[in-house]
Amino acid sequence: MLRALLLYLSERKTPRQLLLRLPGARKLPQRFIAGVTLADALATVIRLKDAGFGFTLDYLGEGVHEPAAAGATCRSYLAILDRLAHEGFRPNISIKLTALGLALDEALARRHLELLAERARRHHGFVRVDMEGSPYVEATLRAFRETDASRESLGVVIQSYLRRSAADVEALIASGARVRLVKGAYKEPAEVAFPNKKDVDANFVRLAEKLLASGGYHAIATHDPAMIKATQDFARRQKIGPDRYEFQMLYGVRRHLQRELLRQGYRVRIYVPYGEQWYPYFMRRLAERPANVLFLLRSLIRG
Ligand code: FDA
Repeated sequence: MLRALLLYLSERKTPRQLLLRLPGARKLPQRFIAGVTLADALATVIRLKDAGFGFTLDYLGEGVHEPAAAGATCRSYLAILDRLAHEGFRPNISIKLTALGLALDEALARRHLELLAERARRHHGFVRVDMEGSPYVEATLRAFRETDASRESLGVVIQSYLRRSAADVEALIASGARVRLVKGAYKEPAEVAFPNKKDVDANFVRLAEKLLASGGYHAIATHDPAMIKATQDFARRQKIGPDRYEFQMLYGVRRHLQRELLRQGYRVRIYVPYGEQWYPYFMRRLAERPANVLFLLRSLIRG
């Protein structure tokens, strides 16, 4: 119920404007967002790298409805790739196709994706196409498939809450694609997504096993200890080394678990979001854990 409400609010403009007007609102995103500027994000990336983590940068934004704005997002990401390479990193970014124009012109979004994948390839970097709500899944997979890029420099996300994902995973494995597996963060109807957590989790384990067994390099993105243990157990049974896949987690979520996995010798990549457009991302993080709403209220009261 609370999850559904928060996800509903994440898509609405008026609550965003109201929230941003409250005293203390400026400080809200700090827990989950690395700052508003690229300099803020770079400082975080340097800290993560020194601690032994990988990173992927998300320049926050989604649902762009004008070509000019989509072009501006693409140029920002090109500059980010160049800057990361200049600073000596292998650039790694996560992008949302709606920020590159998917909702208004699929061909435009694909051209932007091609530019980014090519620039990432030149810097020996990587572009991950995040997966958004179900109305965009088919178009996102199509854009990913049709983008002429090396599989070393471009990957996509699959959500275990979607009923279609088993078939999508099969097809992606067959094409040699690199997949990040997640549970899924959007509000979805029962016709397309499993409504019960137990089914989402069971599907997550099934898909993680398929991906690991495929021999490709995939990412298991979760903070759920049961999903992590199932992945580790399967890999151990199948003699798949910890260098053949990676775990991924969100900036600011379960930091202790992030460090613990590194300590055990696993690869861990942190998803680092930054930028002014933090509202929908922030609301989805609140929806994932009801206790986060208390954190929100405390921050607002303290100002
Ligand atoms: P689950 O929700 O069951 O949480 C397990 C435990 O983790 C919770 O009990 C809690 O302790 C902790 N936890 C989880 N979320 C938390 C939070 N926000 N704050 C505090 N604690 C929290 N989704 C999507 O639809 N498209 C995408 O492209 C991506 N990309 C992506 C990248 C990466 C690197 C990650 C880790 C996740 C995503 N997601 C995503 C989000 C994903 O779909 C999912 O919503 C969250 O990861 C939460 O699900 P868990 O697997 O962590 O399990």
